[in-house]
Amino acid sequence: MTLTLDQIDIYDPNGYVAATPYDRFALLRRERPVFRQEMPDGTFYWAFLKHADVVDASRRPELFSAEIGGVVLEDQAPEQLEQTKNMLLMMDPPRHAELRKRVYPHFRPRQIALIEDRVRAICLEILDAGSEMGDVEFTHDLAARIPSQVFGELLGIPVDDRADINRWAEMMTGGQDPDINPDGYADGTNEGSIEMAMYGARFARERRGRVPSDGVGDLGDLLLATEIDGRPMDDLEFAYFFVQLVTAGNDTTRTMMSSGLHVLIQHPDQLEMLRADHTLIPSAVEEILRFAPPLHYFRRTASADTKVRGQEIAAGDKVALMYSSANRDEEVFIDPDRFDVSRSPNPHLAFGIGEHFCLGVHLARLEARVFFEEMLDKWASVELIGEPERQRSNLNNALKSLPVRIRPA
Ligand code: HEM
Repeated sequence: MTLTLDQIDIYDPNGYVAATPYDRFALLRRERPVFRQEMPDGTFYWAFLKHADVVDASRRPELFSAEIGGVVLEDQAPEQLEQTKNMLLMMDPPRHAELRKRVYPHFRPRQIALIEDRVRAICLEILDAGSEMGDVEFTHDLAARIPSQVFGELLGIPVDDRADINRWAEMMTGGQDPDINPDGYADGTNEGSIEMAMYGARFARERRGRVPSDGVGDLGDLLLATEIDGRPMDDLEFAYFFVQLVTAGNDTTRTMMSSGLHVLIQHPDQLEMLRADHTLIPSAVEEILRFAPPLHYFRRTASADTKVRGQEIAAGDKVALMYSSANRDEEVFIDPDRFDVSRSPNPHLAFGIGEHFCLGVHLARLEARVFFEEMLDKWASVELIGEPERQRSNLNNALKSLPVRIRPA
């Protein structure tokens, strides 16, 4: 049965369970690249499916605001929006540029490179655990431990608290999947974000005034001292920044690792190329991010009437920047449905682009490069022993289980 354009639904999270609907995205890129999608709550949004349109809108934050309506398609209650306005991702210029300028130095490549040895040690420990277990559910048993350990180290989060933080992060981003967030799924609230913000505020309170033993401190100390409006962040501002960092960095990184391994298992020739030539790993990481971006979209809200590809967009309309469609745009990528670890250039949009370009990009790349480098040495083979399961979500392009058998080298 062929689907007419008006029957296509790219909102329904059920449409993402079996696989990302790349065929529908391709049809829409051809036929209706600025697509009007109805939502179950009676509202609608414009999905931007073309790479050029996602880039253009991302670069015009004054017209396509992250602050007016936040970055997810479901409209938030006014009080919730008020709170999220303090998160970097949901700020518009000029507030955004001001805060970003202050925190960026802690995330720049030179700074992140300093922790490569620590990241390697964490990856080796996790790979060894995998070798010992043999049969694992890779997503939770191993992949989830990478960002939570790295992040915990960076910020100085006590080891015993890291599992809680992981759980809250997954509850927050798994809101559309009843297996992950049964309460949030039922009533639209999100316990995870509240718990995490409370933890962040407590963390700030307990840390303040502490003199780091080395005189410099960890990222937690540095961020606490970061100034906004000429004064250090207060506990609440820190709490939001904390929630933002953990949620932005945790699940996305876990997903990059698990989708990356899955894609490599599905493309044994490409995996062999990497085994033979480790210098291809950085470009393989970019290709994993293009081919299976951890996030399908982020939302913007038009702040004034405008027109895109002839389509009128009114002030207040919602827009979805469809990264997973843009990454397969045939006008930008040759043979976009082919997974090619040597692809170059690779201007994928998994990390967004423009003002809000991912702050953690260098950390994410480092984690993936080091993990796959060591994995290829430590594991002689890794194979599927069951059907992977995908998260029910139109936002997170994530696996919730990846059962594999590992044979150590
Ligand atoms: C594979 C892993 C990751 C992916 C795919 C990813 C993706 C993204 C995307 C798509 C954006 C928004 C771009 C936009 O709105 O234009 C973003 C922003 C952001 N990411 Fe990441 N991210 C990842 C890892 C991380 C990590 C590890 C951290 C923390 C260390 C992090 C922190 C942030 C922050 C703070 C922002 C907001 C930046 C701003 O608004 O200026 N991300 N990320």
